[in-house]
Parts: sequence; C-alpha cells; structure tokens
Amino acid sequence: MKAVRIHQPGGSDGLVFEDAPVPSPATGEVVVRVHAAGFVPDELDWPGTWVDRAGRDRTPSIPAHDVAGVVTDVRYGTAGLAVGDRVFGLGDWHRDGAAAEYIAVEARNLALMPESLTYTEAAALPLSGLTCWQGLFVHGGLESGQTVVVHGGGGGTGALAVQLARQAGAQVIATGRGRAAGLAIEMGAHTFVDLERQRFEDAVEPVDLVFDTIGGDLLARSAGRVKPGGALVSITAPPPVEPEGGRAVFFIVEPNRDQLAELAKRAESGGLRNHVGAVYPLARTREAFQAKRNGLPGKVVLEI
Ligand SMILES: NC(=O)c1ccc[n+]([C@@H]2O[C@H](COP(=O)([O-])OP(=O)(O)OC[C@H]3O[C@@H](n4cnc5c(N)ncnc54)[C@H](OP(=O)(O)O)[C@@H]3O)[C@@H](O)[C@H]2O)c1
Repeated sequence: MKAVRIHQPGGSDGLVFEDAPVPSPATGEVVVRVHAAGFVPDELDWPGTWVDRAGRDRTPSIPAHDVAGVVTDVRYGTAGLAVGDRVFGLGDWHRDGAAAEYIAVEARNLALMPESLTYTEAAALPLSGLTCWQGLFVHGGLESGQTVVVHGGGGGTGALAVQLARQAGAQVIATGRGRAAGLAIEMGAHTFVDLERQRFEDAVEPVDLVFDTIGGDLLARSAGRVKPGGALVSITAPPPVEPEGGRAVFFIVEPNRDQLAELAKRAESGGLRNHVGAVYPLARTREAFQAKRNGLPGKVVLEI
C-alpha cells in the first residue's frame, strides 16, 4: 500500500511517501480502508512515534491517528463492527497511524460514523472531541450551572470545548488572542477575554473549572483562579501550581467508543461544529505538517 512514514527523529522533513506493507489485524482488531486522517503537529516528538508499548524501536512509523474510513476486514472480538461499515476513531499512539491506505485498529477505538458527515469532517473529530469530553467531564467534572474558563477557546480543541461546555449548561468564558473572539462567541462562549489586551486573572472571578489548551505561564497563573473544590485541567503539561483546595490534572487523550458515539450523535444533529482549516492529499503530508506548524488555524486533514 501507499503510506507516509518517518524513519528517524528530526521533524516533519523526514516524512516520506512510499510503499509499506498492508497491516494485518490481531484479535479484537479490524482493518480500515482509510479515506481521511488527522494528526497532531507535535506528534512526531512524542515517544509513541518511535517505540511500541514495550519500549521497542518501531520505526519506520506511520503518523496521523485520527481516522475515518470503511472496515475491510474483521477478527474475533470486534462485535458491533462489520465489513463495509463507515467508521471513525482514534488509533493507538504507539502503533502505526492512518497516513496510509489501510490501518489496523482495535475495534473498541472506533465508532460508526455519523451518516451526514463526510470522511473529512469525521476525521477531524476524534482527537479534539475526545480530548474536550475527557477534559471537561471526566477529569474536570463539569456540571450544569458551573462556570468554566476555556483557554484557547478559538483553537482546534478549544472551540469544541466551548460548544460542549455550553451544551452542558455551563457558563463559558473563552480566552485567546483577539482574532479568536468572534469564533469563540459564535461557538457559544458567553464572554471572551483577549489575552493580548488583558491579564485573564484581572477579568475573571474564581471558577469551577479552568480547561487550558495554551499552557506556559498562563497555566501556572490559572491555579489562582480556581475555586476550592474546583479543577485546573491541562492538555499541554502538568500544572506547576495546584489550586488551593482544588485539583490539578494533566492527561493524554484516550480512545473511547462510547464517547465517540456521543460526539457522533451531536455532530449528526448539527450540535457540534469542527473547523477544518485545510485538506491535503496523502502524498503531501509533509507540507500538511509544516502548514499546521506554521500556524494554519483549524484541523488539517489528509485525504487518502
Ligand atoms: N494532552 C492531550 O491529549 C492533547 C490532545 C490534543 C491536543 N493537545 C495539545 O494541546 C495544544 C492545543 O492543541 P490545538 O490542536 O487545540 O491547537 P490550536 O488549534 O493551535 O489551538 C490553540 C489555540 O490557543 C491559542 N494560543 C496559543 N498560544 C496563545 C497565547 N500565548 N496567547 C493567546 N492565545 C494563544 C491559539 O491562537 P493562535 O493560533 O492565534 O496562536 C489557538 O487559538 C497543543 O499543544 C496540542 O499538542 C494535547
């Protein structure tokens, strides 16, 4: 099959479009003919790109772990999925990804695709959607009537978090650069704090949850704006300061079929909008990584 692979660390310049063996599925897995794939620009720096779960070298490796496509082969232990199903989901970071014609994935990491979505739209959803779901509700414990700050509320992850938090009945304060204000408000934020003009702690009273997608100094300063009993949840790095009387959480998103199915339902009904910033063919994956690293807004999707 055709695939994009990387043979050694050194950034996206090392991504090559070449022939690779078609993956064979193990028990509990299916093979998906990939139609669209999504990636995280920094994933080439993550350990999972280079070693398997036992720490063994797994190069050359295929990036891009968001997948949307059609099931072409099933093994035992894949109940709920059949050959011909349109599926989407998130692959294992320590295994080959979806920048290829085929991927072998654990069936439990996939859900049926919403009928009304294209493969490209579906491939943009798993990583960002699951990250927000787990950040807000699993780790953050967000409930109706509470107040949440979403740092980076106009970003690929943040804009989805704003929508999910609003739908959950929360009061939503988004932050970011001024140019993100329009999008964050359109996605459902009640207010927006322009971090280029204002320190967020001067604009915000202590809240139940801070969900941070920006990190750095802002993450450290956010602990002081969490109510006792509340939480500071980060997806960029462990918070260096704990909120007084509250929790500090850093997590890496995990695949989850039930949560994917819930996201699919909302996307189907138009209740969840995801911004696809650009689409590249598989052969131009290297350019796609570079474009995203150079600040192209929204999710960048590969079409296979
Ligand atoms: N732990 C996990 O499981 C997990 C999962 C997904 C993503 N992530 C990580 O989360 C981070 C965000 O991912 P993403 O895909 O949402 O990125 P993104 O689409 O680039 O969104 C980040 C948002 O934050 C804004 N921002 C960044 N720095 C800022 C600053 N100093 N001041 C104000 N606004 C700022 C960006 O604005 P500009 O575009 O204007 O800079 C953008 O709107 C990345 O580091 C990614 O690796 C982690």
